[in-house]
Amino acid sequence: SNGAVCRAVTSPTYLETTEATEIDWDNIGFGLVPTDYMYDMKCSSDGIFANGELKKFGPIELNPSAGVLNYGQGLFEGLKAYRKEDGSILLFRPEENAKRMIDGASRMCMPAPTVEQFVDAVKMTVLANNRWVPPTGKGSLYVRPLLMGSGAVLGLAPAPEYTFLIFVSPVGNYFKEGLAPINLIVEDEYHRATPGGTGGVKTIGNYASVLKAQKIAKEKGYSDVLYLDAVHNKYLEEVSSCNIFVVKGNVISTPEIKGTILPGITRKSIIDVARSQGFQVEERAVPVEELLDADEVFCTGTAVVVSPVGSITYLGKRVEYGNRGVGVVSQQLYSALTSLQMGLAEDHMGWTVQ
Ligand code: COI
Repeated sequence: SNGAVCRAVTSPTYLETTEATEIDWDNIGFGLVPTDYMYDMKCSSDGIFANGELKKFGPIELNPSAGVLNYGQGLFEGLKAYRKEDGSILLFRPEENAKRMIDGASRMCMPAPTVEQFVDAVKMTVLANNRWVPPTGKGSLYVRPLLMGSGAVLGLAPAPEYTFLIFVSPVGNYFKEGLAPINLIVEDEYHRATPGGTGGVKTIGNYASVLKAQKIAKEKGYSDVLYLDAVHNKYLEEVSSCNIFVVKGNVISTPEIKGTILPGITRKSIIDVARSQGFQVEERAVPVEELLDADEVFCTGTAVVVSPVGSITYLGKRVEYGNRGVGVVSQQLYSALTSLQMGLAEDHMGWTVQ
């Protein structure tokens, strides 16, 4: 009942964290595990973030009139910390998340922490929650930075105060399928983003707006939704929470970044890894028909890493890939990326940060 949900959220036990040793690291999935500390930094009308601090993880207080609650003035980021075999911890390209937050903040009329502030805050938060970073190969610590208009507004305007928050949670596989291929449905009624809109930044509203199509798809047994462009209803855009790649022979194609697609850091990394392995990677408009004769399809994202796609249904027609198994290219790119992230392969690109 609603009462039960309410009690669960307000219960004092909400603040209590489990001993990390109690976690079944082999079956962790992608759900919030409350950890020890979060990071909090504020910025008022001078536009400068300062005096950030670690706090015990738990609920935050917001004015009911806060810009983020009323007008959706908010952004989030996602990155992961991996435990190396020697026990130390690696972050993957955190400065890229910092830069993306700065770009998104400009679109949403918000000030943002500098790259240095962002990366330092991520490092502090991860170290403070060291015991929640899973053992090598058992998952990662997902880091979720948030930037929001926390000051009170009533008329539509940018908020007078901003909060930068970071919380973390140990995670495993994003999709309930685990590492097995996912089943997507091409959405032909709803769109995720429009030209001139905010699809190219990581604003919170982009994710609320996909919930309905995702819910309908899940009720029909699909893992998630693949969106088409809003102008022609013809070209691939992205999946609710990740970017998409189509493999045909030695050519790997992915929709170009043009304002409606999230510039994924895993997307960008996979493009570089694939090129270094001799694939021809094309960033271009990819017509939905290309799915019909693709050899493989896979998704990329921080949360999903590289997720192979087992089938795509478009206008009632289902196309299958990889004979119910993981495609060779998807597997090869997944292994190359995760070996780098976990510090198991030489980091020639300089992408990892201790
Ligand atoms: C991520 O991959 O980190 C994201 O931000 C997507 C989110 C919906 C889990």
